[in-house]
Amino acid sequence: MASAAPEQERSVIRARRPIVAIDGPSGVGKSTLSKLLARELGFVNLDTGAMYRAVALAASRRGVDPEDDVALGRLAAGIVIDFVRNAGGERVLLDGEDVSAAIRTPEISLLTSKVSACAAVREALVRRQRELCARGGFVLEGRDIGTVVFPDAEIKFFLVASPEERGRRRFLELQAKGTPVDLARTIAEVEARDQADSRRSHSPLRQADDAVAIDTTAMGIEQVLAAMLALVRKRYPGDGEE
Ligand code: DC
Repeated sequence: MASAAPEQERSVIRARRPIVAIDGPSGVGKSTLSKLLARELGFVNLDTGAMYRAVALAASRRGVDPEDDVALGRLAAGIVIDFVRNAGGERVLLDGEDVSAAIRTPEISLLTSKVSACAAVREALVRRQRELCARGGFVLEGRDIGTVVFPDAEIKFFLVASPEERGRRRFLELQAKGTPVDLARTIAEVEARDQADSRRSHSPLRQADDAVAIDTTAMGIEQVLAAMLALVRKRYPGDGEE
């Protein structure tokens, strides 16, 4: 039978800040928007894709077979992935080493699609994501945040954009970093990853029933951010206005 929570417990429940989930395919703007939204709200952002990328990088370096689910699961449970902020912005650490650039190569992107289909890897990373964000006040971006990691997230967004536009954005991003890149190939890679992410049996990319979908194909970042902020502030007028 339900009973009234003690005063202290109730105030803890009230004090928990919301979780904002941002899901969608690659190249849709999740990373940029997650960072901007978190900054506006005074929340912390968590790039869960970077965690899957770090597992793929560790697997590649240690020669772990991407088809060997047992070895991959053991690897994911044994490595330490951290996020730190320094003069170079937000950095991803794998066992203490800054791997922010190494996890973004096209080869690691493709390998990450394989590695992220492994149930044991997902279990290890989802557990860590829940631990990290348990106190609320987080914007998490990924593929399964609103459906699996935090199905009770207070606010869920599902971002979409055409594969051509997402390929073009990824192309410009890689080009700006000086990576040799080809537009047609980048679009083909985006499409290949879409297929892999949506068709895998464990936690495929899927819109949660209660997620708000935004098509960013013809929208600028500022416009999408304004739409997201408006929704968060409408539901949680107190957050992000301190
Ligand atoms: O968001 P991203 O491009 O950095 O993601 C890299 C890969 O990791 C991509 O293939 C999808 C996968 N991923 C996932 O399966 N689940 C998540 N929560 C985040 C990313």
